[in-house]
Amino acid sequence: MPHVVDCKITAHQEAGRGHYRMALRAPEIAAEASPGQFCMIEVRPGYHPFLRRPMSIERIFADGISLLYKVEGEGTRLLSGLAVGQSISVQGPLGKPFPVDAAWERPILVAGGIGVAPFPGLAEAIIRKTGRVPEVVLAARNDAMILCKKDFERMGCRVTLATDDGSAGRKGFASDALAELAPGPGAVVYACGPMPMMYSVHEVCAAAGVTCYASLEAFMACGDGVCMGCVVEANVEIEAERMVRVCADGPVFDTTIIDWTAQRARTGARP
Ligand SMILES: Cc1cc2nc3c(=O)[nH]c(=O)nc-3n(C[C@H](O)[C@H](O)[C@H](O)COP(=O)(O)OP(=O)(O)OC[C@H]3O[C@@H](n4cnc5c(N)ncnc54)[C@H](O)[C@@H]3O)c2cc1C
Ligand code: FES
Repeated sequence: MPHVVDCKITAHQEAGRGHYRMALRAPEIAAEASPGQFCMIEVRPGYHPFLRRPMSIERIFADGISLLYKVEGEGTRLLSGLAVGQSISVQGPLGKPFPVDAAWERPILVAGGIGVAPFPGLAEAIIRKTGRVPEVVLAARNDAMILCKKDFERMGCRVTLATDDGSAGRKGFASDALAELAPGPGAVVYACGPMPMMYSVHEVCAAAGVTCYASLEAFMACGDGVCMGCVVEANVEIEAERMVRVCADGPVFDTTIIDWTAQRARTGARP
C-alpha cells in the first residue's frame, strides 16, 4: 500500500557530474519497499512543476531510502538544490519489484547510465536472499558517467565496464558486454537503462534462452495506474488491451511480454 509522506532529507551529495544521491527518512516506505519499486517525488510544494517525478528506490535502510538521480530538466534541477534538513513529499513504494529467486544461479545486472539507480539495492537483496553475488555490467557514454562501480566492488561483484568512447572498459554497448559474458542456462539478467539498450539486451537474452527482467521508463502522471499516461505495447492481453501500464503493471517486466517492434518504431529506431 503506497504512502504519501513528508520525508526529511538526511544526506544529499553529488554522485558524479550532474548526478546526485539523496537519502530520505522514510520508515513507512522503507518497511514495505523492494528493489525495483519507485516513488513519485514532489520536487517543490504547489502547482509548479505540476507533476511528481518518478524515481527508483536506490537502496532501502531500516529508517529510510536513498535515490540516485541525474539532473535532466527543471524538476531534477529543483531537487538538486534542496538541502539536508528540508522535507519533500514522497509517494511510494509504487510498482512491481524485481523478482529474486535462489534457483537462478547466475544473476547479471546490466545498467545503462542512470539506469543503474535501482541496482545497488537489488545487488544487496540478491546477496542477502540467495547468497549469490551478481555480476554487473555498467555502460555509459564515458568514464565520468559510470556510477556506483565502487559500491558494487565493495559487495564483491565482478564489474564489466562499457563506454561509447572507450574511455573505460570495452568500447561499445551494454548488450555487447553482456554477450561477451555469454549468459546461458541458470542465468537471469536484470536490465535498466534507455529503451534501445533494453531491447538489445532482450535480444541477447532471447537468443541465449535466458530470462530477462527490465525496468522500463515512461512519462508518468499519476504513477498509480489511473491515467494510462505510461502505457507501452505488449505481446499479452491485459483487461482486453495489448498494453501494459509501466507504473502499475511494471516498471519491471519479463522482456518477452513487451512488444519490442512497437517500442523500436516509437523511438524512431529500425523495427
Ligand atoms: C519508473 C521510473 C523510475 C525512474 N527512476 C529514475 C532514477 O532513479 N533516477 C533518475 O535520474 N531518473 C529516473 N527516472 C527518470 C526521471 O523520472 C526523469 O528524468 C525526470 O522525471 C525528469 O524530470 P525533470 O523535471 O528534471 O525533467 P523534464 O523537464 O520533465 O524533462 C527533461 C528531459 O528529460 C526527459 N524525461 C522526462 N521524464 C522522463 C522519463 N520518465 N523517462 C525518460 N526521459 C524523461 C524529457 O524528455 C526531457 O528531454 C525514472 C523514470 C521512471 C518512469
Ligand atoms: S502514470 Fe498514470 S497510469 Fe501510469
